[in-house]
Amino acid sequence: MEEELIGIKNSALSLILESTDLKDLEETKLQFLGKSGKLTLTIKEITTVPIEKRKEIGILANDVKQTIEQAIADQFEMLSKKKKTTLIEKIDVTNPGIKPEIGHLHLVTQAIEEITDIFEKIGFERVRYPEVEWDYYAFTALNFPQNHPARDEWETFFVKSQENPKKGKMILTPHTSSGQIREMERKGPPIRMLNIAKCYRRQSDVSHTPMFHQFEGLVIDKDISITHLKGTLEYFVKSYFGKNRKSRIRPYHFQFTEPSFEVDVSCGVCNGEGRLLDGSKCKLCKSGWLEMGGAGMVHPNVLKSGGIDPNKFTGFAFGWGVERVLMMREGLEIDDLRLLYSNDLRFLEQF
Ligand code: DAH
Repeated sequence: MEEELIGIKNSALSLILESTDLKDLEETKLQFLGKSGKLTLTIKEITTVPIEKRKEIGILANDVKQTIEQAIADQFEMLSKKKKTTLIEKIDVTNPGIKPEIGHLHLVTQAIEEITDIFEKIGFERVRYPEVEWDYYAFTALNFPQNHPARDEWETFFVKSQENPKKGKMILTPHTSSGQIREMERKGPPIRMLNIAKCYRRQSDVSHTPMFHQFEGLVIDKDISITHLKGTLEYFVKSYFGKNRKSRIRPYHFQFTEPSFEVDVSCGVCNGEGRLLDGSKCKLCKSGWLEMGGAGMVHPNVLKSGGIDPNKFTGFAFGWGVERVLMMREGLEIDDLRLLYSNDLRFLEQF
């Protein structure tokens, strides 16, 4: 009997440990502890054991039973845990997937595309000219006398290199106006140019970045007058800023245009009133107008530099900052303009 009980214990334990699922374990349990299970039947036979050995066998039988029950309980816990994890690991193919993050164009690139679309609709042709430029195209050919202080005024970056005997020093172009002469040389009239490019100036503070973008328009044809300039301005302002915005021109001075103007756009916050409904001054514009940039009728000397006869052709030009019009439209007051180029996603993701 003693040996039989130990044999039952060993075979029960190995079967319990081998069971791989709960059904298996349940069968093993029945096989040993069920009504007609091996252990149950053996225990019933204890009555046949001689009385002097009965107590000892009884204790052993009890021990075997407890060990088997404990082993079943342990295995049960282990198998149920396993069952749960397998459930979690199962993939529910009907669940919506996790969307990968998709980037988008930088807000300045978005503005460039939009500005291009607007001008292409009225026949302007987008061009690009070198960012590393000769002094001649940026200044001399644009009617700046040789010793004019503009080279300093425009805070020009000079490139350490040999001077070109005809075109002077090598520079980083400080404005897109340098594209005017290049376009006249390339094409000749009629011209409807849109030159959008990076410009560089020695300036870096909260409202200036050493690199920024300008878009330059140039129209040259027969009988081009200020009305064409004014019409183009109105068209751009209405298309880019909105139907309710107005433009105005104020007299100004540029070497390469005569007459020259500063172009303003009515403020979108106070609707050009300069005051808010409660009578307080508009904080964005203070006067009802926001300055957009320069424009004018192409100076006859500039036409001559580009090989165009000023007695036959006239033209207008304008040059504005991409970052500037973008911020004006969004009503953005970026405390530090350098943020535009810092690649901080917390900022860029907002656009
Ligand atoms: N190039 C000028 C600047 O950077 C802006 C400008 C003014 C461009 C008048 C023009 C113009 O074409 O006609 O400040």
